[in-house]
Amino acid sequence: MEAIKGFLQPAVGDQIRRLTLLAETDSTNDYLLQLPTADMHGQIVLAEKQNAGKGRRGRRWQSPQGNIFLSMGWRFNTRAVSLEGLSAVVGICTCRALSGIGLSGHGIKWPNDIYVDGAKLAGILVELKGNSHGTSAVIGVGINMHLDAETTSNIDQPATGLAGQSGLKTTDRNTIVAAVIEEIIAALEHGSRRLPDYLREHWSQWDLLAGQAVHLEYQGAAYKGEAQGITPGGALRLHVSSGPGSAAEIMTFHSAEVSVRRA
Ligand code: BTN
Repeated sequence: MEAIKGFLQPAVGDQIRRLTLLAETDSTNDYLLQLPTADMHGQIVLAEKQNAGKGRRGRRWQSPQGNIFLSMGWRFNTRAVSLEGLSAVVGICTCRALSGIGLSGHGIKWPNDIYVDGAKLAGILVELKGNSHGTSAVIGVGINMHLDAETTSNIDQPATGLAGQSGLKTTDRNTIVAAVIEEIIAALEHGSRRLPDYLREHWSQWDLLAGQAVHLEYQGAAYKGEAQGITPGGALRLHVSSGPGSAAEIMTFHSAEVSVRRA
């Protein structure tokens, strides 16, 4: 734990109220979500393993010992609807941190799945708890380090770990976690108003779907088209070639509702 703090810039360390390292837990996101909202801000929880790790869309996140399971609590003075782009921002932060340790060739499959060489390396799950005064976000980041054969067989898509990647300066988890935390805090310290600017500035550099033919499912209907980046709020822009309603128009899709596949 002290090792992680030692890697953080002092200004970043000052924004962290508590850093908790657990040998195991069901889910680091759930650990923070059960706290009173007033206590969440600035708290970071890390676990060596998760017994019931959560992925997006109700899926499980395979969480064996030794991978990175990180959750951070952050309070915004805004309604949850303004935070739609937050998970894409955190995806970018994670990509930037991984570049910093020497990874290359990685990027984000909208909304926030991090891939390298066609295999999933990391995922983001943002969960929000709002009230009339604002919204508390629990930002969860999972980064695979090693995946054994049994774990891989439980994942329904190609998956990989950092440990097998070439060109890395380090695979030290403390260093990686500190780099991810620094990127996230730098992106969030100006509050939610800056999130659209952050996406405008950085998204295209990491966008693995840009210009690709994709299939979408939305409210039981299938759409095909070409992915054309995201809106400043983080919604996917699709130039629709087939689907209900008129084709050959740009439609926008919000992450909670959609699953995307490359055509
Ligand atoms: C996904 O790609 O489906 C999102 C995966 C998010 C996994 C992380 S690991 C830390 C945090 N705790 C959880 O239970 N899930 C997130």
